[in-house]
Amino acid sequence: MQGFITYVLILSFISPCICIRVKYVTENNTYNVMQYGAIGDGKSDDTQAFSRAWNSACNAGGMSTLVIPSEKSFFVTKVNFSGPCDSKILIQFEGKIVAPCKQEWRGESYLITIEYLNGLTIDGNGLGEVDGNGSTWWDCPNCDRPGLFHFHSCNNLTVSNLTISNSPRAHVSANKCNGATFSNISIDSPAHSPNTDGFDISASTNISIQDSNIKAGDDCIAINGGSYFVNVTRITCGPGHGISVGSLGKHNANDQVSDIYVWNCTFTGSTNGARIKTVPGGSGYAKNITYEQIILENVTNPIIIDQDYRDLEETPSVLVSSVTYRGFKGTFVNKVAIKLDCSSSGCLDILLDQNNIVSAEEGGKTFVFCRNAHGTARDTIPQVNCLSE
Ligand SMILES: *[C@@H]1O[C@H](CO)[C@@H](O)[C@H](O)[C@H]1NC(C)=O
Ligand SMILES: *[C@@H]1O[C@H](CO)[C@@H](O)[C@H](O)[C@H]1NC(C)=O
Ligand SMILES: *[C@@H]1O[C@H](CO)[C@@H](O)[C@H](O)[C@H]1NC(C)=O
Ligand SMILES: *[C@@H]1O[C@H](CO)[C@@H](O)[C@H](O)[C@H]1NC(C)=O
Ligand SMILES: *[C@@H]1O[C@H](CO)[C@@H](O)[C@H](O)[C@H]1NC(C)=O
Ligand SMILES: *[C@@H]1O[C@H](CO)[C@@H](O)[C@H](O)[C@H]1NC(C)=O
Ligand SMILES: *[C@@H]1O[C@H](CO)[C@@H](O)[C@H](O)[C@H]1NC(C)=O
Ligand SMILES: *[C@@H]1O[C@H](CO)[C@@H](O)[C@H](O)[C@H]1NC(C)=O
Ligand SMILES: *[C@@H]1O[C@H](CO)[C@@H](O)[C@H](O)[C@H]1NC(C)=O
Ligand SMILES: *[C@@H]1O[C@H](CO)[C@@H](O)[C@H](O)[C@H]1NC(C)=O
Ligand SMILES: *[C@@H]1O[C@H](CO)[C@@H](O)[C@H](O)[C@H]1NC(C)=O
Repeated sequence: MQGFITYVLILSFISPCICIRVKYVTENNTYNVMQYGAIGDGKSDDTQAFSRAWNSACNAGGMSTLVIPSEKSFFVTKVNFSGPCDSKILIQFEGKIVAPCKQEWRGESYLITIEYLNGLTIDGNGLGEVDGNGSTWWDCPNCDRPGLFHFHSCNNLTVSNLTISNSPRAHVSANKCNGATFSNISIDSPAHSPNTDGFDISASTNISIQDSNIKAGDDCIAINGGSYFVNVTRITCGPGHGISVGSLGKHNANDQVSDIYVWNCTFTGSTNGARIKTVPGGSGYAKNITYEQIILENVTNPIIIDQDYRDLEETPSVLVSSVTYRGFKGTFVNKVAIKLDCSSSGCLDILLDQNNIVSAEEGGKTFVFCRNAHGTARDTIPQVNCLSE
């Protein structure tokens, strides 16, 4: 009898908790910024509404969907979607976010900061858009200009189907993220906009960037120190400064990058194609980097390793090794189609294979430049005779 009463008591204490738990994990809670006071007329400041909607979505538990509805334009001065959250979150990003002009910024480093989250998905469904209103900043290259999207410490992240344009600085940056896929992202800023990298990856692993069209005033994609296993495919780049590893070794840093795979990408009218750039005085390495199946149209420097070597014999340098360039086809518009300009420690194990790069101008000259570059070239036009063993 005593046992039975205890059992009933325990049961009646536990069961309501069980019910609430079950409800939480199965319900798909939807949080629309409009329900949190957003106006969406492109003028009223919706910053606080976004913040309230995020807090609810983040604290709910279970699956949460934050809705930024279509056909609305949200003016915000800052968005901070910060975790950790109790919920697993989908941001249904179908509306437009517009950034303040230069005079209205409040010293934020980024318009949208997304941090400390696991398994976040952002889907724009082909409708979502962020306009950084960057033209008000571009004539001030020395200003401390903000970026648009910053992902920090986000694991297993998916971002897709968005248009991101006119950033004052980098459009998308990811730092300390492990496992992220960016797909079908359209990035659009003019060639003359300073430092407007498309994607800027640092200290991150297992990152995939695919099926995207990038027009920018700086690197279409920059892969920086501490990044490993970055897979880039079906990207169109141009205008832009190419798909770059680096700059590595800035301010004498020890930067390490490895296992980078860039394939089936097209460069049109970009200043660089495949670029590896390091700064004298730094240390670390850039190794196991493959660029494959690349289409070129009027690219200024299709293949370039630039260690900024200025007879700096004693200066330390980031070590570049195991770099493959395979299946580059198309036209370039400079004189030097392939430039492998390495420091005195040398670039080791370079492989050029099955490339065909020709001048866009009829009868245009084609040169190849190597300094301290070691490796093999085969089946490649222009002929590369300047690699050492
Ligand atoms: C949750 O609801 C939203 C809005 O109705 C929907 O778009 C989303 O697909 C749902 N998510 C899941 C996991 O059911
Ligand atoms: C975002 O919000 C979190 C938690 O409220 C805070 O710790 C963090 O500093 C904020 N970040 C930015 C960039 O405002
Ligand atoms: C940029 O900001 C200015 C001033 O706030 C505004 O008048 C203009 O409409 C904005 N441009 C875009 C594209 O949102
Ligand atoms: C990553 O997130 C996706 C979608 O949110 C989910 O289906 C998957 O199980 C997650 N994987 C890991 C390893 O967390
Ligand atoms: C992107 O949008 C398309 C079309 O609306 C949809 O089919 C696809 O699932 C979306 N991609 C992701 C990864 O959510
Ligand atoms: C990619 O995004 C565009 C516009 O942002 C959209 O129209 C298209 O449906 C998307 N494609 C896929 C395959 O998701
Ligand atoms: C890489 O990230 C994806 C999700 O973006 C995940 O499914 C996969 O398991 C990760 N792989 C490793 C080796 O971390
Ligand atoms: C790179 O990404 C593509 C497309 O998502 C995938 O099929 C391929 O397996 C990935 N390769 C590596 C080496 O991660
Ligand atoms: C390369 O990408 C294009 C689209 O950009 C696609 O049509 C083609 O099938 C891809 N080729 C391979 C071998 O993946
Ligand atoms: C080189 O990187 C690729 C991923 O791009 C990886 O699959 C491969 O194992 C790496 N090779 C070596 C020798 O580490
Ligand atoms: C490439 O440059 C050549 C010579 O300047 C020009 O005739 C051609 O139209 C350009 N092609 C593209 C796709 O821009």
